[in-house]
This record gives sequence, structure tokens and C-alpha cells, in this order.
Amino acid sequence: MSSTPLSPRLEVQNLRRVFDGQAVVEDVSFSIPAGQVTCLLGPSGCGKSTTLRLIAGVDRPDAGRICVDGMPICDETSYVPPERRAIGLMFQDFALFPHLSVAENVAFGLKGGGANTRARVGELLEKVHLSRHAQSYPHALSGGEQQRVALARALAPRPRILLMDEPFSGLDERLRDGIRDETLGLLKDEGTAVLLVTHEPHEAMRMADEILLMRAGRIVQRGAPYNLYNAPVDRAAAAFFSDINVLKGRVRGALTPTPFGDFLTPGHPDGTEIDIVIRPQHLKIDFDRAGRGPNPTAQDGTPARGIVERARFLGRESLVEFRMEVDGSVLRASVPNVFLPKPGTPMWLMIRRDRCFVFPATGRA
Ligand SMILES: Nc1ncnc2c1ncn2[C@@H]1O[C@H](COP(=O)(O)OP(=O)(O)O)[C@@H](O)[C@H]1O
Ligand SMILES: [Mg+2]
Repeated sequence: MSSTPLSPRLEVQNLRRVFDGQAVVEDVSFSIPAGQVTCLLGPSGCGKSTTLRLIAGVDRPDAGRICVDGMPICDETSYVPPERRAIGLMFQDFALFPHLSVAENVAFGLKGGGANTRARVGELLEKVHLSRHAQSYPHALSGGEQQRVALARALAPRPRILLMDEPFSGLDERLRDGIRDETLGLLKDEGTAVLLVTHEPHEAMRMADEILLMRAGRIVQRGAPYNLYNAPVDRAAAAFFSDINVLKGRVRGALTPTPFGDFLTPGHPDGTEIDIVIRPQHLKIDFDRAGRGPNPTAQDGTPARGIVERARFLGRESLVEFRMEVDGSVLRASVPNVFLPKPGTPMWLMIRRDRCFVFPATGRA
């Protein structure tokens, strides 16, 4: 395959896959340049692995086109078989060959057994800190070490694209962040284009240059982790990344009145039901001061009083639940470090206008 310098490494256009009359992947389009890690993020069953299998070539799309470096590998007229796509694969269970040593596993995808192969295997084993385990067999390794063998094996033939399907989910939670960081370092070092599938937003935010948020077969939002977190496209996208609080309101004029004052909600017709969404760490809290309450800025809007129902210490943060006096609703605030007011304590809450998201209501309570 010759490469066109301006083409993305991987380009997927209008991909569609139907099972039993049901579209499981629908109109999926994206591209990944060399050296970039893109995470396909979404709940279980939304079509992530199916998308990956189509790109790998182990399954064929019902419509759409896949190009590598500008050359079609799959469209109406062409179909390049998986082994000729120069695409590496890494799965959750690592799928190491139990009867091959670590070095033989890593060498598996390399042609011939010459000096080049030995050099590449040696280089990769060094990079994943497994040189001294070169002659060991997979069963003698820890989960983290097996993961590194699988990664080295997938990268050995210098694939143009590496597809990773939930590659950390089989590992001990305590080890995962360290392994994610090491993996990312190696991926960046190798400069391949990576599509990593995960259902964990934390993982996507830690690994991705770009996130593709998938839901029911479609990509509903794409962008840098910062953008997805801070400008979610809808209420469900906001809720995918953290707990949320939702205030209900109804548009009057270009405003939606709430116990926290009026919110600007332009572009929605009068009577539209509105969800005002705010993450727990963005609620502003102030003390009661014998009922006098805080002095809010214009950004803070109107304070409303709540009574502490429960406060829990979670390590990095404390989670405080308030029952609002005005309507009995419950709001959750996350406060850094230790903040454990006693149940029954009155406090004031404010919703900063630059921290909340306004969406038409989705019907859920
Ligand atoms: N070979 C298949 N035949 C029928 N249905 C399938 C097949 N593969 C996947 N599905 C269905 O497609 C949907 C998406 O599956 P999948 O892509 O594995 O989701 P994810 O990886 O996001 O969890 C699921 O409802 C799954 O049951
Ligand atoms: Mg899957």
C-alpha cells in the first residue's frame, strides 16, 4: 500500500452493520491520524466491538467504507482480508499462546527468524520491561506482565493501526492507571494510530487525544476529553462522565425560573420543559450565618437553602446530600478533601451559570 501524506492513517465513512434486521452500527464516520490515540467510548452493547471487528476485517459491513492511508481496504468493490490490513489487535483476554515463550509470542507476527526479528523482539521486551522474562511462559507471568507481552506482540510488526478492545479490563483495578500510563507512553513512542474501545470514561479521559462517544450504534459526540466533559451534547452525555444533579424548569420568555433564580434559556419555545444539569463538584456551598446566607455574585444566581441529609468521606472528596427546603428535592455536592457537616445543618447552595448545562427535558425524573 502506498501512502498519501495528507490522508489520515485510518478513515471510516458511514459504516453500517445490521444483525437480525437491527442496525448495531449506524452511520459511523471518523478518522485517526498517525500518532493519535482515539477512544471509542460507550455503554456495553452500543456497538463498539462490532465497529472494531469491521475495521479489523473479521466482519464485513453492510455499508460504508474503510481506508488506510487513503487506500480503501473495504468498500463496495474492494475487500482486503484481515491479515493483509497491517492492523494490530489487542483484546481484553490478551490471547497469548500458552505453548510459546514470551519472546516467541512477541515474534509471532514477524516474518522470518533472523537478526531483524531478534532485534525488534529485544527492543520491545526492553520497552515493556520484560527482557529478563524472555524465555518464560505466559502462565508464569502476572496479569500486568501478560498485558505487556500482548502489547509488545501487537506492536512488533509495526502495524499502521492498533485496535484495542477493553485492553485493561482484565487487570486489577489498583494496577490499571499505572499500566494505562505505561501503555500510552509506548503507543506514543511507536507513533501508530490507535483506536481503543472502552466503556470507562475515566480510562478514555486518561488515554485519549480524542474521544468518540457512542450510543446505540451511533457516534453522538466527538472531541478532546476536556470538551466532552465540559460541553456535553445532551443530558445522557453529561451523565456518562459523572453523577449529575438535574433541576427541572419550564421556559418563560427566554428564561427558565428555578429556586436558584432565572436561567437564560434562549432558543427554546415558551413552555418547553428544561433540564438544568450540574455536576456535584460544581455546586457552590455556603454557610447559613444564622439565616442571612451568602452574598452571591451575578454568576452564582440566587442561593437556595438546603438541609444536610448525609455526608460521606470518599478519600479525595466528600459527598454531601442536601434536601432543598423549597421543594424537597435532593442535590449532591462533592467537596474536595474532608467536609462532613452534621445531618440537619442548614446550608446555602448556588448554581454557577458558567458551570451548568441546559438541555430540553428528556422525560426522565
Ligand atoms: N454476531 C452477532 N450476531 C448478532 N448480534 C450481534 C453480533 N455481534 C454483536 N451483536 C449485537 O450487537 C450489539 C452490539 O454489540 P457489541 O458491538 O459487542 O457492543 P459493545 O462492544 O459496545 O459492548 C449487541 O446488542 C450485540 O448483542
Ligand atoms: Mg465490546
